[in-house]
Amino acid sequence: VDKVAKAKVVSMIKAVPDFPKPGIVFRDITTLVEHPEGLDLTTDIIAAYYAARGAQLDAVVGCEARGFIWGATLARQLGVGLIVLRKKGKLPRETISRDYSLEYGSASLECHVDSITPGMRVVLVDDLLATGGTMAASVALVRELGADVVGTAFISDLPALGGRAKLEGDGIDVFSIVAFD
Ligand code: PRP
Ligand code: ADE
Repeated sequence: VDKVAKAKVVSMIKAVPDFPKPGIVFRDITTLVEHPEGLDLTTDIIAAYYAARGAQLDAVVGCEARGFIWGATLARQLGVGLIVLRKKGKLPRETISRDYSLEYGSASLECHVDSITPGMRVVLVDDLLATGGTMAASVALVRELGADVVGTAFISDLPALGGRAKLEGDGIDVFSIVAFD
């Protein structure tokens, strides 16, 4: 990623110490999306990554809640639909679900069974990769329904928390715009 663009993205993300628990440095993207250039810049960078690889994609998958923001912009940019993975109990039709843990808690994500047709080529997107719990569960959900995971994309990565290593160890391509120590 271009250095100037990267620096711009970093400047738009606010670091909030001790949220939601003592010891966690929360990487807040609300300031990024409030910036008039933030969404365009970050969406264009992610879309360019897949375009450069000539990736043929059938859908974007977004993880609730912050993943919906880039799920929507990226799907629009790539000219495909958006599949939403939601927290437990929110999707109305038949679902499959996965429990997982993340940097500061645990949760469950669900996917509509009929959202994925076997062989569908998808990219999953979220704002941030920490332990990888959320994304590993998301990948497992769509794979269970037969999706072909082309890659995972994030605005930020916290490599010290092991998420990138965990996903890459499972053969999953990981793209992030910026990394924080
Ligand atoms: C945050 C973030 C990622 C996840 C990353 O979501 O948006 O989804 O944590 O952490 P992990 O790599 O350790 O799993 P959160 O569950 O706080 O939900 P939100 O998007 O609804 O705010
Ligand atoms: N999700 C998990 N860890 C996070 C962090 N440090 N900042 C923002 N979102 C997160």
